[in-house]
Amino acid sequence: MIIVNSIEELFEQTSAFNGSVGFVPTMGALHEGHLSLIREARAKSDFVVVSIFVNPTQFLEGEDLDAYPRKEDADAKICELAGVDVIFMPNAEMMYEEDELSIMAPAIRGFVLEGSKRPGHFDGMLQVVMKLLNLIAYNKPTAFRAYFGKKDAQQLALITQMVKNYFINVEIVPCDIVRDADGLALSSRNVYLSKEERVRALTLSRSLKKATELVMRKQFEVVMIKEAMAEVLKEVDVQYIALVNRQFQAIDEVEIGNTIILVAAGVGSTRLIDNLWI
Ligand code: PAJ
Repeated sequence: MIIVNSIEELFEQTSAFNGSVGFVPTMGALHEGHLSLIREARAKSDFVVVSIFVNPTQFLEGEDLDAYPRKEDADAKICELAGVDVIFMPNAEMMYEEDELSIMAPAIRGFVLEGSKRPGHFDGMLQVVMKLLNLIAYNKPTAFRAYFGKKDAQQLALITQMVKNYFINVEIVPCDIVRDADGLALSSRNVYLSKEERVRALTLSRSLKKATELVMRKQFEVVMIKEAMAEVLKEVDVQYIALVNRQFQAIDEVEIGNTIILVAAGVGSTRLIDNLWI
């Protein structure tokens, strides 16, 4: 495995690739969720590239950019064991110029939910993902796939739309959410939680479980499901509970195969998201 810190070195590596490439973009502090993406990429590609870059443009003023966990050595070991070929670790200076053109998230998928709670977050996220996809594809691999988690459902939908709208030659592969044994969706931000907060954080996945139970009993009415979820989420600071179709449009009734249930909540000073695809 090789760690590259510059675009030149990256191109040197990718120019020697003679086969398919699987790419996993991350912000580091790798956990089993990231690892599941890497494993899938490893299984399906000749060469695997992981990027680790805490992208400043997707953090809002006052968010945790400086505090975001950085674990470069541990991340390198995890990647090495998982059979990664190249880790790309750029810095902000080589990724951005002073006065750049920007990509704006579209209205329906981009401005609701996370987009409304974190205005500008998705613009910065799309901007860096576009850059990263272009960099990894620069030397024209025979096949190019990029792996993203359903944990960030709205992010995944927006990237899929960007790739379509801008004719980017990559296949986006959605990957299932990885959870701890007790149900908590893995996230690099879980390290911020105190013991007591971690217990309260479990109510996010529990509220989704509650929703599943209702759907299994053929209770499809969104108002009812949201009420039942809110009851489970009493001890956290709920930011939204939402049921949308795969286009992220609000719905009144659950449609099996076309519904995503999402929840975002503050637990202490940590903001957590979780979701379930029905
Ligand atoms: P990051 O939060 O590091 O996540 C990297 C990838 O891992 C994303 O595709 C995310 O959905 C996936 N992931 C995180 N937790 C997961 C879990 N519990 N189960 C499955 N997949 C999980 O998302 C980002 O970084 C950034 O926005 C990025 C796309 C790298 C752009 O900067």
